[in-house]
Amino acid sequence: MSNIALPFKRYTITSALPYANGPLHIGHLAGAYIPADIYVRFLRLNNKDVVYVCGSDEHGAAITIKAKKEGTTPQAIIDKYHAQIKLSFEQFGISFDIYHRTSEKIHHELSQEFFLNLYEKGEFIEQVTEQYYDEEYHQFLADRYITGTCPNCKSEGAYGDQCEKCGTSLNPTDLINPISTLSGKPPVLRETRHWYLPLDKYQPWLEEWLLEGKKEVLKPNVYGQCRSWLKSGLQPRSMTRDLDWGVDVPLEEAKGKKLYVWLDAPIGYISATKQWALDTGNDWEKYWKKQINPADDACLIHFIGKDNIVFHCITFPSILHAHGEYILPENVPANEFLNLEGDKLSTSRNHAVWLHEYLDEFPGKQDELRYVLTSILPETSDSEFTWKDFQARVNNELVAIFGNFINRVLVLSHKYFGGKVMETSQLTDTDRFIFSELERYPKHIAGSVTQFRFREALAQFMNVARLGNKYLADSEPWKLVKTDEERVKSVLNVSLQIAANLAIMARPFLPHTAQRMFAMLNFEAAGWQQAGRHDLLPAGHQLGEAQLLFEKITDEQVDAQLAKLSKAKETNARAAKTVPEAKPNISFEEFVRMDIRVGKILAAEKVAKTKKLLKLTIDTGIDRRTVVSGIAEFFAPEEVVGKQVAILVNLEPREIKGIVSQGMILMAEDKDGRLDFVVPQTEVQSGSTIR
Ligand code: MF3
Ligand code: ZN
Repeated sequence: MSNIALPFKRYTITSALPYANGPLHIGHLAGAYIPADIYVRFLRLNNKDVVYVCGSDEHGAAITIKAKKEGTTPQAIIDKYHAQIKLSFEQFGISFDIYHRTSEKIHHELSQEFFLNLYEKGEFIEQVTEQYYDEEYHQFLADRYITGTCPNCKSEGAYGDQCEKCGTSLNPTDLINPISTLSGKPPVLRETRHWYLPLDKYQPWLEEWLLEGKKEVLKPNVYGQCRSWLKSGLQPRSMTRDLDWGVDVPLEEAKGKKLYVWLDAPIGYISATKQWALDTGNDWEKYWKKQINPADDACLIHFIGKDNIVFHCITFPSILHAHGEYILPENVPANEFLNLEGDKLSTSRNHAVWLHEYLDEFPGKQDELRYVLTSILPETSDSEFTWKDFQARVNNELVAIFGNFINRVLVLSHKYFGGKVMETSQLTDTDRFIFSELERYPKHIAGSVTQFRFREALAQFMNVARLGNKYLADSEPWKLVKTDEERVKSVLNVSLQIAANLAIMARPFLPHTAQRMFAMLNFEAAGWQQAGRHDLLPAGHQLGEAQLLFEKITDEQVDAQLAKLSKAKETNARAAKTVPEAKPNISFEEFVRMDIRVGKILAAEKVAKTKKLLKLTIDTGIDRRTVVSGIAEFFAPEEVVGKQVAILVNLEPREIKGIVSQGMILMAEDKDGRLDFVVPQTEVQSGSTIR
């Protein structure tokens, strides 16, 4: 444990900007938000000057692809999800000083300023290269618009800018067997001009700043990833894109191009701080720029998930470094991934616990989720959330230990002493042991928090609750009260001091609970430095009402959640089977070239030696013709004679089993491949057009 836990006086804390393309789930919370929020609350409790910023990431293919999928505009997508995400964070209690968005003007301007700063310094390499292009969609394919096999780990489905399996950052041309995510076809190469950040040039600096300078402070999972990228050698990375959604590249010769989303998004941390400073009358530069005296520099810490490591440890620091006026991150405590019930969390498969749904279904239980997620944070490796485990931790730990202790102390104090704190008479060895433990724990917890070991910190916090619960149970004041009331006064006094300490120490971890405890104890501590004292509640102090802090999670609640997850699984399985992907658009002209008519089947017979084919004679209204149709598995010849059908009459004739088929009967096909005729609701004249 380091002896100077918090050497800086000012802190700039960021949580990854979530893409505004879907709601938040527990994976987000466990990755970048709960750890940061604990850290920030802890800093504030220690009277540090902190700004905690976040916002929606509203550019990039993540947004435009989602818009396409929902058949709407990128603007509609970001407006919808930004509002939803912001509200969920608020209701859950993540204590951002500002939750901003990257579509704001102030952000576009600052991003362009950054680009121009580097451009004017001559940092970018300007280059015309061949890039993948989708001829059907008339679009260059970067980032998430292209997938293929990762050249590094060989897993499928790597994106054009990154493989999410191994974290490697990629260029589209690195992908093996690239496929356009728009048309699903292999792309072609076309020339285009872009501006590249020379990461290879910064490599020696990165090695020194990061590999040598941060060996001791970075988490092993973060350090390891960085070392392996640097070892394989960095390549220049394009900072511009051929897209129509994003921040405009501020150059005449780059009309129509946008900044790469991973250039603008991290600058979003800065623009958010600027906006916050405008709103509150603060000076944003104190939190981001190098100060005249380096000892006055703020401490910048990025909380993220592991798929963001390369951008926060390599790309963004390189940009800040090249700019020159900005501080660099002190640390980037990235978490690994959280799984759910034995499977990866997945937005597209709806395999998730959605925050807005949790808040709806478990009103007032924000801290229960915070508690469980903090207990299982994927700090060193992937971890898993299950509803059974959620129930067990809430019931056996929060209810049975912590809640039980607090409730008992308060109820007994009211019952025996009218809710007043009594004098302690003689302290026993046990009492003295409790006091020394109380003194020890806040330091330990602080040590763990400042080293980003939140699981360990929370476990120690619970040890204090355990200590209290055991002390009370062992002392048995409800028996003692008949024989030794003086001793009961001491026992409850000691217990209440434990409770008051718990209330202070709960503040970073369980903020809502801490508030309720302060009300119950009728006391509020100024800061963390008060934790550890055993005179927080003086004799004679009047306590507030006793309330239950937590209630049990029932089996029914768990079952309902599990049922929801399996229902999502079923829906997926069905959807996967039934609905084929939408085809690319066609023009109206292409559509009207099809001549579709209502016809009537005059005769039908099986085509010899085939199972599926019927030879039909059709009156098309124009003529009488032969069509071979693959419907024999579903219809007997005699059944179909006399039926009206829809027929595409200008399909080029084809020979099928020696018979020339002139046209095609239109059939509806259901999820099991069953066919049925597409016909008018009432009989119409043969030759009627369908359009
Ligand atoms: N939107 C990104 C993601 O969800 C994170 C952006 S973090 C920032 O992976 F630094 F770019 F802001
Ligand atoms: Zn890979």
